[in-house]
Amino acid sequence: MMNEDKKEVIFLLGATGGIGKLLAEELKNNGYIIVGNGRKEDVLISMKNEGKIYDYVVGDITKDEDRKRIVEKIKEYVNKGYKVSIFYNIGILYNYPGEFKNYTNKMIEDSYKTNVISIEEMDRELEENGFYLDTIYMVSISAFFRGNWDHEYQKTKAALKAHVEDQLLNSNGRRIIALFPDTIKTGEEGMGSKLKEYPKIPGEIFVKKIAEIINGKYKKYSGFIFEIDNNNIIKLYGINPSKITNAFEYLEKVFIEDVGKAVY
Ligand SMILES: NC(=O)c1ccc[n+]([C@@H]2O[C@H](COP(=O)([O-])OP(=O)(O)OC[C@H]3O[C@@H](n4cnc5c(N)ncnc54)[C@H](OP(=O)(O)O)[C@@H]3O)[C@@H](O)[C@H]2O)c1
Repeated sequence: MMNEDKKEVIFLLGATGGIGKLLAEELKNNGYIIVGNGRKEDVLISMKNEGKIYDYVVGDITKDEDRKRIVEKIKEYVNKGYKVSIFYNIGILYNYPGEFKNYTNKMIEDSYKTNVISIEEMDRELEENGFYLDTIYMVSISAFFRGNWDHEYQKTKAALKAHVEDQLLNSNGRRIIALFPDTIKTGEEGMGSKLKEYPKIPGEIFVKKIAEIINGKYKKYSGFIFEIDNNNIIKLYGINPSKITNAFEYLEKVFIEDVGKAVY
């Protein structure tokens, strides 16, 4: 039955992957009504059967007609009187294609389409429909760095960070949260599993903190960096756009607390 504790609905785009599944369950346990999205209908159906999500909308966020269906579904919940938030957890990461010359044009295009353009288009379409929703963006600590990983992924996350900064300048009273996590471990699934030699944030620790943040803890920050230090301690930092550049500046981050130990 519908969990009506909070009467708050979170549209979780990218519910079907490693972090998405853990997030859905944790947020549901915090009393939110979760509507999941992804392209994998079978995964959404089993998540619904397991009670991790209340409802779902299958769709490829890079496709105009699929985004339209997501907006229609959001409309349904708004019209029923629910407070609706949107959580962009989607993304693609390539497995070490190496130097820039090794990327195909399709890989470059797909990276931007999924990780940035679809999110911008979705935000614009929501505004066109008069929806100014509280929004959570899953960016990545790689938005601040170049080199090492999937180079295009890092560039797309930097572009997504710029989009969030722009949204914060025109927030219209919405709560906007940007998440900048280091590598996350979610079993065999998820992007973190591709980075075998890296220490990782246990997924369960990560999603617990995210629930606290969404519940209103650390409200004075709009951005959150989860960084693993040289001793494998996971440090949580808060960050707001710089008064000089209006951008999230890594060096202006403020330490909040240690949240646990990284694993491999
Ligand atoms: N894992 C990490 O270490 C880490 C660290 C920092 C940030 N992040 C970010 O966290 C988010 C989730 O990552 P993850 O590790 O859980 O990866 P994942 O398991 O690969 O999950 C990616 C999710 O994105 C969805 N997705 C991809 N393309 C889509 C499309 N065109 N339309 C709709 N949905 C699409 C996938 O659903 P379908 O396949 O069903 O479409 C899936 O639910 C990503 O934004 C990632 O960049 C991850």
